[in-house]
Amino acid sequence: MLDQLICKLSANIFDVLQVINNNAKGIAFIIGDNNKFIGVLTDGDIRRVLLEGNDLNTPIKGIVNKHCTVANDGESFHEMLAKTNEKVNILPIVDVNNILVDFFQYQNNVYVPVASPNLRGNEFKYLVDAFLSTWISSSGKYIGQFEEKFSSYCECQHGVAVSNGTVAIHLALITLGIGTGDEVIIPDLTFAATINAVLHAGATPVIVDVDIDSWCIDPLEIEKAISPKTKAIIPVHLYGQSCDMESIMKIASKNKLFVIEDCAEAHGAEYKGKKVGSFGDISTFSFFANKIITTGEGGMCVTNSKELSDKMCVLRDHGMSKTRKYWHTAVGYNYRMTNLQAAIGVAQLERIDEILTYRRQIENDYRSFLSTFPFIKFQKNIEDRHRVTWLVSAILETNKRDELIIRLKDENIDARPFFFPLGEMDIYKEFLFSNQNSQKLSIQGINFPTSEKLSSSVKERILEIFNKL
Ligand SMILES: Cc1ncc(COP(=O)(O)O)c(C=O)c1O
Repeated sequence: MLDQLICKLSANIFDVLQVINNNAKGIAFIIGDNNKFIGVLTDGDIRRVLLEGNDLNTPIKGIVNKHCTVANDGESFHEMLAKTNEKVNILPIVDVNNILVDFFQYQNNVYVPVASPNLRGNEFKYLVDAFLSTWISSSGKYIGQFEEKFSSYCECQHGVAVSNGTVAIHLALITLGIGTGDEVIIPDLTFAATINAVLHAGATPVIVDVDIDSWCIDPLEIEKAISPKTKAIIPVHLYGQSCDMESIMKIASKNKLFVIEDCAEAHGAEYKGKKVGSFGDISTFSFFANKIITTGEGGMCVTNSKELSDKMCVLRDHGMSKTRKYWHTAVGYNYRMTNLQAAIGVAQLERIDEILTYRRQIENDYRSFLSTFPFIKFQKNIEDRHRVTWLVSAILETNKRDELIIRLKDENIDARPFFFPLGEMDIYKEFLFSNQNSQKLSIQGINFPTSEKLSSSVKERILEIFNKL
């Protein structure tokens, strides 16, 4: 966020207005060539100089307010707060060399959403390009590009873009011929889309427990739950953590089961150096707005099988033959993604590494500023698994998880509890096989916001709540 507040002294009024417009905070911090802090310009300052007869090309050098209030790095929250008033609610923080290092803003009503899309690259440009091309439905150059680039990012040969991550799982199931009379093993701790897709396919879900360390489906429980009717396993890479894919693939091959990886929450995660999504017969992704990369709504199935990919393309498009228009070879669906969504997806993918790094920095920040509270245990890093940060996830070894979430909500900070165990809900409980660990995790688990880097004032608000607990 600090980056969005900075403007160079060499800029003109137009440049500074753009900065103020983008950061929506009504202020820009002006720095010199040597990155030294010079002063500030507010939207009010600009309005005044424009009324005095200057225009947008006027250099800001002569108009910077150098007599603004600054906070010094190392000052306490309360010292900084004391420097604010009704007019000055945002302060630059400088170090001993007068280098701008952070900013302070205390507004206890600033809403911190649990997640928000990072659309600061070519998203808008490609979206407008797709719009102007008039290919706004499911034909157009961005669909193919997104399928090719995303599947190759996942180390797979084929990608089939669809309208969301739930239908991606459904499409994978029906493409593999799974339906009535078949059993599909799924974890107890996941978003309901996983089980709903199985039920929509007409198959019977078998809900098994998760591993207490990784929070992902427990291979030992999978083995116990296999019956003659079992056709597939859906491992869910939960909260950015990869499942134990070696054990799962061994069980699948021994028992001739299909594997559909649900990677909705783990774009870019790896198991033993291989990307999640590259293990299963078909793997599915979601691009909902809270996901690591987004297309608004959207999803994709990836696979290494041309046959499965071709079949998915037909089923996604009403079961219509690819060589004979309006000739239908299957009772299909309209699961297509639009070119507008894919345009955003292509731009998101260009910056996926940057986005993952940004999210990891946010997680590291939480780990460090909450490190003095021994009752919070952040998600584990497990040998051979490269975890990604989706939401910052942790277990609270207290019975105060719900109280914490309420207190954070009172401060307008949108933390979330873990998913409920599926087997606890009336509509799913008949499918429960085992759920000891997931019950425990579900009660204690919390997801903190990864929407923005935390400003010092938001951290202070969180710290105060933790201290009260
Ligand atoms: C594990 C999991 N699977 C599937 C989905 C479904 O994705 P979508 O919301 O795009 O349908 C989600 C989305 O939240 C998810 O978290």
